[in-house]
Parts: sequence; structure tokens; C-alpha cells
Amino acid sequence: MQGLFAEQLKALRAASLDRHLREINSSQGPEIEIAGRRIITFSSNDYLGLANDVRLREAAIAAINEFGVGAGASRLISGTQSPHVRLERALAKWKATAAALCFSSGYAAALGTIPALVTKNDVVLLDKLCHASLIDGAKLSGATLRVFPHNNLRKLKTHLQWAARTHPGGRVLIVTESVFSMDGDRAPLRELIQLKKQFHALLMLDEAHAVGVIGLHGRGLAAEQNVSDDVDVQMGTLSKALGASGGYICGSRSLIEWLINRARSFIYSTAPPPAIAAAALAAVNFLSSSEGEERRLLLWERIRLMRKLLLSLDVGRSTLGVGRLDAGSKRSTPNAQRPTLNESPSSAIFPLIIGNEQAALDLAAALNDEGFLVPAIRYPTVAKGAARLRITVTAAHQEDQIKGLCQAIKRLSKIA
Ligand SMILES: Cc1ncc(COP(=O)(O)O)c(C=O)c1O
Repeated sequence: MQGLFAEQLKALRAASLDRHLREINSSQGPEIEIAGRRIITFSSNDYLGLANDVRLREAAIAAINEFGVGAGASRLISGTQSPHVRLERALAKWKATAAALCFSSGYAAALGTIPALVTKNDVVLLDKLCHASLIDGAKLSGATLRVFPHNNLRKLKTHLQWAARTHPGGRVLIVTESVFSMDGDRAPLRELIQLKKQFHALLMLDEAHAVGVIGLHGRGLAAEQNVSDDVDVQMGTLSKALGASGGYICGSRSLIEWLINRARSFIYSTAPPPAIAAAALAAVNFLSSSEGEERRLLLWERIRLMRKLLLSLDVGRSTLGVGRLDAGSKRSTPNAQRPTLNESPSSAIFPLIIGNEQAALDLAAALNDEGFLVPAIRYPTVAKGAARLRITVTAAHQEDQIKGLCQAIKRLSKIA
């Protein structure tokens, strides 16, 4: 057994694609502690700074005192504890849908839901940049899978025409995200809805990076565009802006009842701890309040500042690639490409596209040396040769921290 994976690991290392865990000795927040050293992080999806919020902590502690730690079994077996019921009621109200169902993670929500919606006689049409959970759920369903190029409505239409021809009695499910996790841009939701109506398809929208960020009270993109009723399956996660953990599906009552009967990741998995449901409920209540809305607007101030400063670095037109950032050291790579910034202002996610995997690692390591944690995202999370720094900004960041990061990027990229 020993050494069984040694060759494969060596190959990963050689391609700069190996991954390692980093121990953090503190709670999440804009400043974290790693190996006794304070570091400013731009890596978390805790967009509203709720992961360590006193409201969520107190709700979790109170729920532990009342309901204990473990849920005992699946909710269909040992009973549904009140925190789960309260959370689902609040989620449905917040998202203005008839019902909601919680899962132990967003990943589990996708993995359980898609195979419950479609089977081998059906078709799933996925955006090319969909998250792994959606891809895995689609694969698991056994339905025929077609991928359309990112946000390409023309190609999606061609796929829909093809599906109508080849699967006349089958169901067609379009799956996409409202904010794409590694690119930070948005789906053209209204146009997607037009197409799904034209072809009588179903639409599943993953709002993982939109809830808490987009729309009044953070209800997400569908709510912001006033098209919630046209999205058949609204997926989201409690693990990002809501600061807790778990995934959810919002939709019609019959959809939720069907999932309770058919979503295997719901049926065959122990319910999430009641304390986590209570914390997530505190987050939903906070978001629904005027204070929550103020926090969301503060996040947008931070997003605008980050965008302005990153664009002012003019990274796209830089004449010095990051490969030169510490020329001569083992970190520099001859084939590093120039970093470019996706100019989209649409979310709290800023991908600084580097291209070369080692160059992305180099810039992340150099930023780490300067006291900033920004993850280098590489294949298979993104395509080969599309490595990037994924910068996420939160409402909890101070302006000086954002300015400090941008100055460090400028220095390290030697951008004049
Ligand atoms: C777009 C998207 N969907 C789903 C998930 C999975 O959610 P969770 O982390 O709650 O499992 C993620 C997590 O990164 C995501 O980015």
C-alpha cells in the first residue's frame, strides 16, 4: 500500500497541480492565524463576515443546549428537529417560494436533486463553467449530458433543438449558476428563462455565490430580476454568505415533497446538526433585517473599491508578467503569462487570470510572504492553462486591507 500513489503524486507535483492543506489556528474572518502568524485573507466565501458573528454563535450554542449536538439519523428515520423546520420555513419565506429543503451541504443538494429530477431518458444541459457538484449530480442522474460554452445562448438553443428532436418524450433540465464560482460573472438569466419557456425545459439555478450578495436582502439574482417564479429549482448554500453550513433547494411544494422521497443525499444521510440549522436561521433573519441589508450594501462598497483598485493596476496591459516577479528564484517560470483581470463588477469574486499553473502558485506564494492569503486556483477546478488567483472580498474587510493587497499585487507584478 505504501507508495501506491507516490508516482501519481509526483506527476501532480511536476505539473504544479498538487494541493495541500493549511492549518488555521483561528476563526474565519478577514484576518486569520496560520502557524502563529497573522495573515489577511482574501480567500473565503464568507462574504458578509457572518461565519464568526455573535448572532450565529449564540443561536448555535442555544440550539446545542436545547437539542444536543448530533441529529441521530436521517430526518425520515429519527424525526425532524425543530431547527430544521424553522430554517426551511424561513428560507421559503426569504426566497418567496412555496417550500424549501435543506441538505448537509450544497454539494449534497446538487448530488441528490439532479438525479431526482432526471433519469436515463432525459437530457441535462450544463453551462461549461458549472461547479463540480452540478456536474457530478448530472453524471449521477444517468441522463444524457450536453455542455454548452459558458453563457452561450446560441449554442444552448442548438442543444435544446437537438434534445427536442432526439428525446421527444423526455424531460430537459438546464443547469447553471447565477454567479460563477471561479469567474465571478453572472448568467444571462432573463434570456435563459425565455429559452427554457420556448422549449418547455426545466431550469435549475445555483445561487451559491449570489445569495447574501445580490438582490434586496441578499435574496439572489432570480429575486433581483423578479423572475423567481420562472426558476423551477433554486439551489443555494448556507456555507458562504450565510456563514454556516449546508445546502438548500427552494421551489414548489410538490418539488420539495418529491425530493424528500427521491433525493438520495437527503434520504440516506444523517441530518445536519440542529445547531448548524439554528445558526443558518439566525443568518437568514439577519439578512432579512435592515441591519443585514446595510451589511450587504457595505459589501458592495468593498466590491467597488476592490474593482477600482484592481483595474487601476492595469494588469491586463502590464508589460511584466508575474513570472518575473522574483526573477532568479526557483519560483520564477520562463513561460509565465501576463495576468489579466476579468472586468466584471458583478460579484464579490475577482479572478486574476495568470494562465500558467506555476506562475499562479508563485504569485500566491509571494503574496503570502507579504501577509496576504489568496488562493491559486488550478486545474481541474479551472481549465488547464487558465490558472488564476481567486480574490474574494467581504464586508468585513477594511479599506486599508484591500488597498494593501492591491499595492502588493502591483509591487509583485512590477506594474508601473
Ligand atoms: C457554485 C457552487 N455550488 C455549490 C457549491 C457547494 O456548496 P457547499 O460548499 O455548501 O457544499 C459550491 C462550493 O464551493 C459552489 O461554489
